Amino acid sequence: ARAQIGVTGLAVMGRNLARNFARHGYTVAVHNRSFDRARSLVAEHGGEGDFVLSESMADFVASLERPRKVVVMVKAGAATDAVIDELVPLLEDGDIVVDAGNAHFSDTIRRERALRDHGLHFVGTGVSGGEEGALNGPSIMPGGTRESYESLGPLLEEISAKVDGVPCCTYVGPGGAGHFVKMVHNGIEYADMQLIAEAYDLLRRGLGASAAEIGEIFAEWNRGDLESFLIETTADVLRHVDAATGQAFVDVVLDQAEQKGTGRWTVKNGLDLGVPITGIAEATFARALSGSVPQRTAGAGLPAHTREWEVKDREAFVEDVRLALYASKVVAYSQGFDQIAAASAENGWGIDRGAMARIWRGGCIIRARFLDRITEAYERDAGLPLLLADPYFTEAVAGGLASWRRVVAGAAGSGVPVPAFSSSLAYYDGVRARRLPAALVQAQRDFFGAHTYKRVDRDGTFHTDWSGDRTETEV
Ligand code: 6PG
Repeated sequence: ARAQIGVTGLAVMGRNLARNFARHGYTVAVHNRSFDRARSLVAEHGGEGDFVLSESMADFVASLERPRKVVVMVKAGAATDAVIDELVPLLEDGDIVVDAGNAHFSDTIRRERALRDHGLHFVGTGVSGGEEGALNGPSIMPGGTRESYESLGPLLEEISAKVDGVPCCTYVGPGGAGHFVKMVHNGIEYADMQLIAEAYDLLRRGLGASAAEIGEIFAEWNRGDLESFLIETTADVLRHVDAATGQAFVDVVLDQAEQKGTGRWTVKNGLDLGVPITGIAEATFARALSGSVPQRTAGAGLPAHTREWEVKDREAFVEDVRLALYASKVVAYSQGFDQIAAASAENGWGIDRGAMARIWRGGCIIRARFLDRITEAYERDAGLPLLLADPYFTEAVAGGLASWRRVVAGAAGSGVPVPAFSSSLAYYDGVRARRLPAALVQAQRDFFGAHTYKRVDRDGTFHTDWSGDRTETEV
């Protein structure tokens, strides 16, 4: 046994992770259900490092130093369970199985328990950054036992992205914590992408600018507070010209956004926890709306009663959209971090939110300059109940409030759908309100269902006899 780490499942992500380990000087055992893939990996990239090729799972396991570390990189769901079932009888006490796929955290909790009963460690880890990240340095979000992190962590930190020399990998928490954080990362990714798409739409319709011109605006934005992978990518995509037609590439792409499910998981979990992640939810539903072909066909041509968008000062309008985008983005992150806090409390995961923002600074899809500000906010106050209430973010959003309101109002008047911009603003106004009409909702609930209510002036739970003499009783 001489390999320090093994990777089974050598589709593009697994392949690139294996190469990343090898390039960092580790001896990597590689295995794939169909051997050809493993053989071709070594044939093509064997020069990058030291690979140990095995045809059978038994040989693969035998080639690993103890405690064995096996990274499973197969399709989430049944395929992962099948590989785990095959691995377990071959492993010994203290060995570590790492699931680096996009598993649902509840599956990770289940698998971790099952493997613990076999004396094995199960590490469900988020890995973000796509193919490129897997090869050159992803953001890595490992869960599981602290003990497993002691031997596995250094390897993962080594292959992760680095920002200012700091690895974009840290221990997240026990059980499903790692995959949970990755799920919320993806939810935020959905929100970020939708917000960018809305900003693009506003600029396009408001300015009547071409895709390429808007690409230039995004490139400019990428030099400021909004600097991020997704803004940079947007600039690139918008400037790309379709070779076949000579048109802007974005204009030849069908406007129906798909999803593999992680955004949907995030929204479902937000509902379960009762955390208002409206930005992520709107983004997920916006994808659903875009793909609702029968409804869109039937709805096309519905009356609009809009007014022409009149942009008098182009520069000021662009700045309004930029500030509205920034403020909405802060809301989406604030909500996502609330969701992490709620799940962490419910499951006893002890997740350090500042550390999560730190490991998202590089490697992952939502990597962005402003994540440093989030880390700082949680360093100032680890128990911060609302990111928006951190002094830095309060001021940053306040500076853009007038713009945000102008953009949302203008979009409503002109009939440009901006679900994420407008719901984020509504959330902001809701969360800062001293009093909400929820009081009326409670009164209604008591009226038709005797669901009871609390009062502002004294403790207790009350019910009014609405159909009788309307006396109030304490219940
Ligand atoms: C990443 C990405 C990656 C992928 C998601 C979202 O962190 O590297 O989030 O996991 O992009 O699967 O994909 P969908 O948009 O298809 O849901």
